Amino acid sequence: FSKLKGRGVWRYSEAIAGNYRKVITINEGGTPLIKGKVGEVYYKFEGANPTGSFKDRGMTVAISSAVNEGYKIVIAASTGNTAASAAAYSARAGLRIYLVLPKDKVAIGKIAQAVLYGATILEVEGSFDVGMKAVMKLYKDMGIVYPLNSFNPWRLEGQKTIAYEIAEEIRVPDFVFVPVGNAGNIYAIWKGFTELRDAGIIDKIPRMIGVQAEGASPIAKAIVNNLDTPQFVENPETIATAIRIGKPVNWRKAMKAIKESQGTAVYVSDSEIVEAQKELARTEGIGAEPASVASFAGYKKAIQEGLVDKSSEVVIVLTGHALKDPDSMIKSSARRILVNPDHLENVILGDLNAGN
Ligand code: F0G
Repeated sequence: FSKLKGRGVWRYSEAIAGNYRKVITINEGGTPLIKGKVGEVYYKFEGANPTGSFKDRGMTVAISSAVNEGYKIVIAASTGNTAASAAAYSARAGLRIYLVLPKDKVAIGKIAQAVLYGATILEVEGSFDVGMKAVMKLYKDMGIVYPLNSFNPWRLEGQKTIAYEIAEEIRVPDFVFVPVGNAGNIYAIWKGFTELRDAGIIDKIPRMIGVQAEGASPIAKAIVNNLDTPQFVENPETIATAIRIGKPVNWRKAMKAIKESQGTAVYVSDSEIVEAQKELARTEGIGAEPASVASFAGYKKAIQEGLVDKSSEVVIVLTGHALKDPDSMIKSSARRILVNPDHLENVILGDLNAGN
């Protein structure tokens, strides 16, 4: 690591497969690893990326590959974050982009980003899975449209740098908690650690813990129930809209990463996600969107269930910024008081008198 130069994803360019004449970058990666207030817990805050999620790490590589292969048109199905990221990187590369989104099921911040970056938005009735299938079909039939979903291996090449950054900063934690949707990211992170181990840079890999939302948890349930194949979910439902996915494309890869790292999976309810979001914000000062904070909810559950010890060194990957989903933030209760501007002291003195 000590010989590497620069910061972010392309600091590790030697380890990123592919050969790029031209790199399309917005200085993604290099996100903070924030130490929690108690125990040996670290938060990898991917909300600090240029468009506010870990997707930027994969997008810089995938868009660079699209440009180098001469594509002019790109497409992605998305629950929102891939869309925002793909739109930004396409804009920077001068490519035309189409986004296939589940109608009314994408958080407002993400739609707003896609609009701002100038994408064409194609809405479908139903879940992300409907859009994903449509993109697969189009890409196979048409050929001239470059797909940006995580079955594209270049996406995962970029995302694996999350593992490199963790290892460079703290070597190998005991556990890494990752929210799982279409299931590419947990595999990418595992791949990153595995490559470092195989190169002799680290001597073991962390246990990978996948976390899904209960209403969209085919992989977590398969792991918990010891099934080889997940039972896919026809109508996935969760407030964590980013991971509202019933048939994850990369399920085989995710299950391999979990099993080969001797990890496991948990699923968490929507109310556990909401509580975890509030707790993380109000005790650590870190704002993460609901899908993102599923990893923290999963950590709390794993402690409760005795899967993880409180003294273990743990990295919790927070995949997206709270600002992505303002509707979820504003549901947390807070005091909002109409006041006389000349007498703000009334509120403060009132609180002090009440013993608060
Ligand atoms: N966390 C956030 C905030 C996400 O947006 C996603 C996926 C995940 C976790 C899960 O990652 O799919 O690699 O298992 N969002 C995709 C999208 C599906 O379209 O933005 P995964």
